Amino acid sequence: MNVLAIPGSLRRSSFNRALLLNAAELAPEGVDVRLFEDLKLVPPFDEDDETVERLPTVVADLRASVAGADALLIATPEYNSSIPGQLKNAIDWVSRPAGSGAIRGKPVAVVGASTGAFGAVWAQAELRKVLGAAGARVIEGDLAVGHAAERFDERERLTDEELRATLGELLDALVAEARVDLERGAPALAA
Ligand code: FNR
Repeated sequence: MNVLAIPGSLRRSSFNRALLLNAAELAPEGVDVRLFEDLKLVPPFDEDDETVERLPTVVADLRASVAGADALLIATPEYNSSIPGQLKNAIDWVSRPAGSGAIRGKPVAVVGASTGAFGAVWAQAELRKVLGAAGARVIEGDLAVGHAAERFDERERLTDEELRATLGELLDALVAEARVDLERGAPALAA
C-alpha cells in the first residue's frame, strides 16, 4: 500500500511538509507514505502542452505518481483564505484528460496547518471542493493545525499528542478506504 503525500507549500521549513513527515512516521505497518518533492517544478497548466510530444516530463511523472498511488494525503497551507496557486495548478494537471485524469476516483485525505488560529480551515474546504470537482474521492475527517509555529519541535515532530492521534486516525481511515479498492480488484496503476 502506498500513499503519495503532497505538501502544498514549497518552502523547506514548511509546517505542512512537516505534518506529512509526521504522517509518514505514524503510518501503519506495510504502508509507505512518500512525499512528492517536485511541486515547484510543475509548470503552469497549459492545454497546448497536453500532447504526447509536448507534455512536460515533470507533469508525466506527477501523473504517474498519482496514478500509481493507492491514496493521496494532501497538506495545504492557507494563502489569502484559499489554497496556494501551485497546488491548484498540480491538481488541474492531474484532473486531465477530463473524466479520466490520474486523480479520478482516488481516495484523498486533506489536512492543513497555518500560523494563524484556524489551521487553514478555509483552504481545506476549498481544497475539498477542487478535489471533488477533479473527480477524487475525498474522505471524511480533517486535521487543522493552528498556531503551527508552536506545534512542532526543532526536529519537526508534532508535539501535540491530540493532533498526532487525529493525524494517525485520519491516515488509518484513508488506508481503510484504499483497501476497499484493492479488495475490489482495482489496484493503482504501476507508476
Ligand atoms: C499566508 N498565511 C495565512 N494564514 C492564514 O491562516 N490565513 C491566510 O489567509 C493566510 N494567507 C497567507 C498568504 C500568503 C501569501 C502567505 C505566504 C501566508 C500564513 C500561513 O499560514 C503561514 O505562512 C504558514 O506557515 C504557511 O504554511 P507552511 O509554508 O508553513 O506550510
